[in-house]
Amino acid sequence: LDNGLGRTPPMGWMSWTAFYCEIDCQKHPTGCINEQLYKDMADELVAGGYDKLGYKSVHIDDCWSEMERDSNGILVANKTRFPSGMKNLAKYMHDRGLKFGIYEDYGTKTCGGYPGSYKHERTDAQTFASWDVDYLKLDGCNIDQALMPIGYPLFEKELNATGRPIMYSCSWPAYLIDHPELVDYHLIGKYCNTWRNFDDINSSWKSIVSIISYYDKNQDKHIPTHGPGRWHDPDMLVIGNKGITLDMSISQFTIWCIWSAPLIMSNDLRIIGDDFKSVLQNQEAIRINQDPLGIMGRLIQNSTDIGTYVKQITPSKGDKKSYAFALLNRNSNKGYRKVEVQLSHLGLNDPSGYFVHDIWARVDLGLLRPGDSIVVSIAPAGSVFFRADVASLHNPIGRRRYRLD
Ligand code: DGJ
Repeated sequence: LDNGLGRTPPMGWMSWTAFYCEIDCQKHPTGCINEQLYKDMADELVAGGYDKLGYKSVHIDDCWSEMERDSNGILVANKTRFPSGMKNLAKYMHDRGLKFGIYEDYGTKTCGGYPGSYKHERTDAQTFASWDVDYLKLDGCNIDQALMPIGYPLFEKELNATGRPIMYSCSWPAYLIDHPELVDYHLIGKYCNTWRNFDDINSSWKSIVSIISYYDKNQDKHIPTHGPGRWHDPDMLVIGNKGITLDMSISQFTIWCIWSAPLIMSNDLRIIGDDFKSVLQNQEAIRINQDPLGIMGRLIQNSTDIGTYVKQITPSKGDKKSYAFALLNRNSNKGYRKVEVQLSHLGLNDPSGYFVHDIWARVDLGLLRPGDSIVVSIAPAGSVFFRADVASLHNPIGRRRYRLD
């Protein structure tokens, strides 16, 4: 959607996969959907330095409202769990330099059974704008799928008419998994800044791998329709959650960065371990995710367990092509895998060579030519991830001569 928003993939924190629809705040005082949860996470984004690296938004998910609209047909935040109201919660975010995302559903009810927006599109868009919302995730439960090509664009029109810049995330194609013939990503990208298109993630390797396989299978449809202002969203980052090891975390982050996918965490930032935090905060990886070209990387080689991915990125200087590349070991129990990769087999053919940097080991490998190879050892459920910056024709050699002289 060309509304000037989401020119790089959105980054932030969302409640769903870590806290779901937990509304019992007596039993779960620090883990229920209430205003304190979002304030806590906002504080953590700032105190933990996540915001400086780009994680700027805090997103509410389902189960935030009262069960009924008010007498004027306006949505109201649950009065017990959000006693200060949404406008104040938005202010809390804005005061800290953060953005505020809300959740609704295009249908008659949300997936959790709260009031949906069907036939209230204008009122709801205006309500969100009046609350100073910056991002809307519009889910697709409880609606005839045939109405989606009408409803999602209609909501975009209403959001636009409010005059407030609101990034727009559509779950539209996620409800059409069984009808790929009805999914037109060019059309969806005209009306939405980002969209979910597959099953919900959960904190398991099986779930991560199933999303990766779906994206691998559909990459020819996804890649050309992905870019600034229009992002496929493979769903939240589950890094830091029980069930997800460090290697799995590295893999999810690597692949999401190779894809230029939204980096929206769903975890508990109050208790996350330092190792997991440093995965989420790897600046070289984030730089590749946020590359201004916004290209979705491609699976170029595949074997039973190992996938090899390449993504073109903006060169550090000059106008030749630079790349990021990664190898993923989908198998979580067969041990380390040793693989040899030759640069030219990845399509890295520039005769001046590439300065290669190992993103997770944080090591520079120096200047490698297309015929050179790297031998990597990939942990079970792990990944290796490299940046390959093309050398400018004269510079590296000239420089070396200069040094030798
Ligand atoms: C389905 C969505 O895909 C999830 O991300 C989450 O928003 C739930 N609905 C909420 O009910």
